[in-house]
Amino acid sequence: MLKDKTIVIGVTGGIAAYKSVEVVSRLKKLGANVHVIMTEAATKFVQPLTFRSLSHNPVIVDMFAELQSWDVEHISLAEKADMFLVVPATANLIGKVANGIADDMLTTTIMATTAKVIFSPAMNVNMYQNSIVQKNIVRLKEEGYRFIEPDKGYLACGTEGKGRLPAPEEIVTSAIAYLLSSFDLVGKKVLVTAGGTQEDLDPVRYLGNRSSGKMGYALAKVAKARGAEVTLISAPTKLNKPSGVNIINVRTAAEMCQQVFKYQAEQDIIIMAAAVADYTPQSIAKNKIKKSNNLTLELKRTTDILAELGNSNGEQILVGFAAESDNLIENAQQKLKRKVVDFIVANNIRAEDTGFASDFNQVVIISKDDQIEVAKATKLEIADRIFSEVVKILD
Ligand SMILES: Cc1cc2nc3c(=O)[nH]c(=O)nc-3n(C[C@H](O)[C@H](O)[C@H](O)COP(=O)(O)O)c2cc1C
Repeated sequence: MLKDKTIVIGVTGGIAAYKSVEVVSRLKKLGANVHVIMTEAATKFVQPLTFRSLSHNPVIVDMFAELQSWDVEHISLAEKADMFLVVPATANLIGKVANGIADDMLTTTIMATTAKVIFSPAMNVNMYQNSIVQKNIVRLKEEGYRFIEPDKGYLACGTEGKGRLPAPEEIVTSAIAYLLSSFDLVGKKVLVTAGGTQEDLDPVRYLGNRSSGKMGYALAKVAKARGAEVTLISAPTKLNKPSGVNIINVRTAAEMCQQVFKYQAEQDIIIMAAAVADYTPQSIAKNKIKKSNNLTLELKRTTDILAELGNSNGEQILVGFAAESDNLIENAQQKLKRKVVDFIVANNIRAEDTGFASDFNQVVIISKDDQIEVAKATKLEIADRIFSEVVKILD
């Protein structure tokens, strides 16, 4: 769990350094023990005091400064860390680490650590495309360092292109997925569905639900971090596209059904985390429905994708979700049998600060012989736990 994890954030001297403030804040809120090491250049952009206040730990900049506490200084952070996340990572820092230069606290500690290290580069588009920077990135990847791909878009220097730091939320989820992962899904294909489908009533209205897509996106990220080839069939969400994942956008239950069956045959694991509408309007009005005193809608059943998958005799491991407001376990157990699936992940949508839009969840993973209660944790941790159960029966 994140409460047992020490994450060291390295901040370097890029214009995006201000975004690492939110990264630290988010990781802290998720329960991690966070330490910050800044380069001298980074302090020109953000004050160490900001990071000290948010991380509740002293910030280290100067390698030769008088020690405040042996426990957090020098090489001890390299040993204590479960993960280093350098955000933003300048071209300079990437170049230094790729070439074994350790001339400040951040580079020295990165060189001395055996923890997972992940870089989130951000820079001007030409700088990012510079073949020297690209060669340094390839070199580091070959050595086992991980990278969060920069986004394309408007850059602070006034140019457009690849080099933008992704949103802090995106960086945090990618980093945690990597932190938690074992590399045990290499060579496996995983299909995840996410988000809430939208069923059109007329050209402007639809019937929807409150699913945020966070659980499904967390599953896709964790599967990717564990080495799988991931297809994410996503109903509309406000979330950023996870990197390295084949994403297929759909809107309606019918579209989702069509895409799931298109990809089913080649998958090893299918996880249905999407909130798929059970009903859809009998017909879609061609023109906007006019106001009247009362309106009666006639709805018809949509295809039960999970049950169809379960009854299709596919080879895949099948995982479904049961969002219940009462009789959680009983209903989930019935769903497990009725739909012929390997696992049902049951969550109580009435629980406080978990469920739909929250970053947290609290679930029971039910299989035919077991019932595992997972206490409140981030959705990434829950996703990781689900895959750990799936992996046990994979081969
Ligand atoms: C206003 C300003 C913005 C900068 N933004 C970036 C940036 O986004 N990415 C980058 O790689 N370097 C950027 N630099 C250059 C770095 O600050 C410079 O290479 C510095 O030596 C990096 O030191 P560090 O890697 O030790 O933090 C910027 C410099 C200035 C003055």
